[in-house]
Amino acid sequence: MSRATGALISLAALRHNLRRARALAPHARVMAMVKANAYGHGLAVVARALSEADAFGVASLDEALTIRHAGLAHPIVLLEGVFSAAELEEVARHGCELVVHDPGQLAMLEASHLDKAVGVWLKLDTGMHRLGFAPDEARAAWERLQGAAAVRGPVRLITHLARADEPGNAHTRGQLETFTSSTAGLRAERSIANSAALLAWPESHADWVRPGILLYGVSPFAGHCGRDHKLEPVMTMRTELIAVKTVTRGDTVGYGGNWRAEHNTRIGIAAIGYGDGYPRHAPNGTPVLVNGVRVPLIGRVSMDMIAVDLQTQAQARVGDAVVLWGAELPVEEIARAAGTIPYELLCGITQRVKFSVVEAGLETRAGTQALGSV
Ligand SMILES: Cc1ncc(COP(=O)(O)O)c(C=O)c1O
Repeated sequence: MSRATGALISLAALRHNLRRARALAPHARVMAMVKANAYGHGLAVVARALSEADAFGVASLDEALTIRHAGLAHPIVLLEGVFSAAELEEVARHGCELVVHDPGQLAMLEASHLDKAVGVWLKLDTGMHRLGFAPDEARAAWERLQGAAAVRGPVRLITHLARADEPGNAHTRGQLETFTSSTAGLRAERSIANSAALLAWPESHADWVRPGILLYGVSPFAGHCGRDHKLEPVMTMRTELIAVKTVTRGDTVGYGGNWRAEHNTRIGIAAIGYGDGYPRHAPNGTPVLVNGVRVPLIGRVSMDMIAVDLQTQAQARVGDAVVLWGAELPVEEIARAAGTIPYELLCGITQRVKFSVVEAGLETRAGTQALGSV
């Protein structure tokens, strides 16, 4: 037996969440956001499971090529565009699409002589103030792109919302109005909505929605979890107890001794730590499932291990199942305890964690059938 630390990925949950996205925006097409290794879930496996999506959204050419090498011919949109003329040629060769967000990229396209024209999305900065053309530059940029020989029209329009996770927020309303007014009359498909907008801003659905976190069964809203939106968590992070012992009243556990036993206490050591991506800032009391029952984390998270209080789990033994997050313990709850967001936890899982894929169900004890490695 080797170290049990692993992530289980449910294909059925991925497909369910994609169906949910479609049901929320029945008139829009879905660009599934699979950047950052599909939010830490494994890009090739996730893209194959989401083959019903209309397109994929990625941050780099490498990510796009991983999808192509997985045998998928879908449109793939590079959300930051290209970084050089050489990359532009490769993007064109692999039939990928580009976001164009600044004058340099626009000029590069105009100057290029591609064998195969590329599909382009013109990005407008309507209030995120990260990437994109100013609203009053939209029309001219769109017309230049439409006229560029390297561009396969029609050029689409895209913007990104900064505060869609705050339902009713005035900033989002302003972004939507700016997008509508600055692109009025342009005959182009439009895309605005991330997961939060898909759930909370139906007026943002437009022609294409771009859900990310929602596809992984996780809520984009603070204080909520995926189940609140009829989503199914895709990942179960799990390991095993590798030691069980009793510490004496007054003993401390772990680095820095920040947890002290008030009485003789049975504790367990589980094989997971920040070297696997479990958050080092998870405080005493963060819930962990041992044999499906919640017990509190105690002491500092180490690189390879955590300790849990097993007072309520007298029967727990070495080898017993430990779940850090999954269907019965939302990753949103762990993120909140650790002062971060679920996106960061999911993207932060490290290379040594073994991934396996299950067709359905998230049972982490007997009954789960692993179909293969990611
Ligand atoms: C441009 C763009 N669209 C959509 C998304 C998806 O966001 P979410 O995961 O919140 O749905 C992202 C992710 O950050 C993004 O950068």
